[in-house]
Amino acid sequence: MKLLVTGAAGFIGSTYVRLVKDEHEVVVLDKLTYAGRRENLPDDVPLVVGAIEDPVVVREVMEGVDAVVNFAADSHVDRSIADQEAFARTHVIGTGNLLDAARELRVPRYLQVSTDEVYGSIASGSFTEKSPLDPSSPYSATKAAGDLLVSAHAHTYGIEAVICRGSNNYGPRQYPEKLIPLMILNALHGDSLPVYGDGRQVRNWLFVEDFCRGIHTVLERGRPGEAYNVGGPDECENLEVVSRIIELAGGDESLIEHVTDRPGHDRRYSLSSEKLRSELGWEAQVRFHEGLRRTVDWYRDNEDWWGPIRSGEYREYYEKHYGRALG
Ligand code: NAD
Ligand code: DAU
Repeated sequence: MKLLVTGAAGFIGSTYVRLVKDEHEVVVLDKLTYAGRRENLPDDVPLVVGAIEDPVVVREVMEGVDAVVNFAADSHVDRSIADQEAFARTHVIGTGNLLDAARELRVPRYLQVSTDEVYGSIASGSFTEKSPLDPSSPYSATKAAGDLLVSAHAHTYGIEAVICRGSNNYGPRQYPEKLIPLMILNALHGDSLPVYGDGRQVRNWLFVEDFCRGIHTVLERGRPGEAYNVGGPDECENLEVVSRIIELAGGDESLIEHVTDRPGHDRRYSLSSEKLRSELGWEAQVRFHEGLRRTVDWYRDNEDWWGPIRSGEYREYYEKHYGRALG
């Protein structure tokens, strides 16, 4: 297949491209926001710099492709709480533009990368694909709007579109605004570890390569018009995640600092991946203890990757968001 992969200069998309590039022809469209980096992509993968909401560039890069895989997003909940505009533009206008172009150019297959956050928080049990969408942050509300546009296009125009909803990913090349890389880098530097509220929130951790294998399985064999959950094998409270990072990266528990909670903070996410397992045979292969060890090792060995980030835009963001400077 010839694949157009959007947003692949970011964390998950670049992992996906690495997974598929030897078997498929890949072209990447990415706007290169603060989270998108050319260096994340292998050298032999062509990158077109542009936005998914731009009708001209999208039609140019989509001509002749067999499938579109859309990772492009503003992906950080905290930034969406501070300012939602870019989130609405990319997730709603951008997704709609990709779908219109896919219909006009008769692209045979479209996959939307989405998130467990569209279902909202769940106190016990797990969400299935039949659970109602009940998003709570501007990030998840705009992702849910994107999902609904995908379903509407499949229903109305018969586009062969599928949706993959992943739980919290972690692994190499994740921008350090997210919990796990932020805590790893702060622990490596002996900086304080800012835990929101009581730190008892629960996330369902999924190693990024497992998510990418799930996405590719659904792209190749998922039923058109359907959504598939891709959940991690282990759930964990944030405080426990931070303690394990301290064990692996160094430092001690006195670095943990409870800070003001995220407004509207979702308490627990949990996905059932039973549909993906029973229909398409996918199962997560990397347990949390193993994936976290690999991730800490990767950050320890790759200062070339995170050094420039920690001294650039991120430093300003950190100061503004956490009200203090990085050490
Ligand atoms: P990321 O922030 O690391 O990367 C996003 C990429 O999209 C960046 O390269 C950025 O430059 C690009 N981009 C942003 N707006 C764009 C636009 N308008 N046009 C073109 N490119 C644009 O994000 P990620 O963590 O890799 O997430 C990828 C996808 O997976 C997103 O759709 C996200 O909602 C979804 N997802 C993420 C997680 C997670 O835990 N990180 C879990 C489930 C689903
Ligand atoms: O669930 C899937 C989603 O996971 C994806 O759709 C999002 O793109 C991705 O950002 C992620 O969202 P979360 O909000 O769950 O991830 P984040 O890493 O921001 O936070 C994880 C948990 O850690 C959450 O309960 C908030 C908490 N946290 C986070 C940060 C950055 C802290 O306690 N302190 C922090 O400094």
